[in-house]
Amino acid sequence: MKASLSQSAAASFVALVAAASFALAQPASEATKEGAPKAEAAKPEFVPQVGQSGKDVVWVPTPQSLVDRMLDIAKVTTMDFVMDLGSGDGRTVITAAKRGVRAMGVEYNPNMVELSKRNAEKAGVGDTAQFVQGDIFKTDFSKASVITLFLLPDLNRRLRPLILDMKPGTRVVSNTFDMGEWQADDTISADSANCQSYCRAYFWIVPAKVEGTWTIPQGTLTLEQKFQFVTGTLTSGKNTVKISDGRLRGDQLTFVAGNQRYTSTVTGNTIDGTMSPMFRATKK
Ligand SMILES: C[S@@+](CC[C@H](N)C(=O)[O-])C[C@H]1O[C@@H](n2cnc3c(N)ncnc32)[C@H](O)[C@@H]1O
Repeated sequence: MKASLSQSAAASFVALVAAASFALAQPASEATKEGAPKAEAAKPEFVPQVGQSGKDVVWVPTPQSLVDRMLDIAKVTTMDFVMDLGSGDGRTVITAAKRGVRAMGVEYNPNMVELSKRNAEKAGVGDTAQFVQGDIFKTDFSKASVITLFLLPDLNRRLRPLILDMKPGTRVVSNTFDMGEWQADDTISADSANCQSYCRAYFWIVPAKVEGTWTIPQGTLTLEQKFQFVTGTLTSGKNTVKISDGRLRGDQLTFVAGNQRYTSTVTGNTIDGTMSPMFRATKK
């Protein structure tokens, strides 16, 4: 899917030179020559081509059946703000807006931005589906509660630190491409009858940051974190136990230490939670 940058730069340069020569070759304005303004020729409507070059990745649309499933797995509600990074013809943003969800697309190609606005109008969500022309690497998407992507693995990896700095609980769905070592929390596939290619997506929930040493009533909790997976120890007096099953789902932290299961919510530098005794039953 990668666009050849040198090729597209050369093409733009040729187009620019051609446009400039054309302008210079034109006679003085028709209005001054004939004394009456001439009607402007209608501009042909832009028609996108699958595979057309984009700044960092070409345009290939996500099949509509997968767009639907991506928004389903993110469980979007009217409380959400969805942002599609590299929004193409606007289909994900428009689909979210049709569900009553505030949504915005960021797209580098201005023709695609205009096309998205026309598509949103046609879909009856021209007022709620927003589109901005811009580079995803220079756009602040930190206010989104749901991020959708269909880019490339190396672009996902470049975005990963920014995404991991978003509010815990932010949901992220990427068509086809993963996030490297950040394992997906879930994957989904579009129904095969309605999808021929690029039919699978990965889903993540941004985990809270818990790595460090915490004081709890039982003693000292030392946590290490790899994305949503948590390991560490609980030290009570002279007794240290390893924690197991440590897992983050957004701001929800759960783990087992000793014979207790801890269920908690992380809010910045505070963890509030409950413990429940574990038990094992053996059959008579
Ligand atoms: C594979 S398409 C996906 C389009 C849409 N998200 C979808 O799923 O149907 C990727 C889009 O990203 C746009 N794009 C590429 N690099 C970009 C950048 N740096 N900033 C913003 N948009 C970019 C391309 O023009 C293209 O429309």
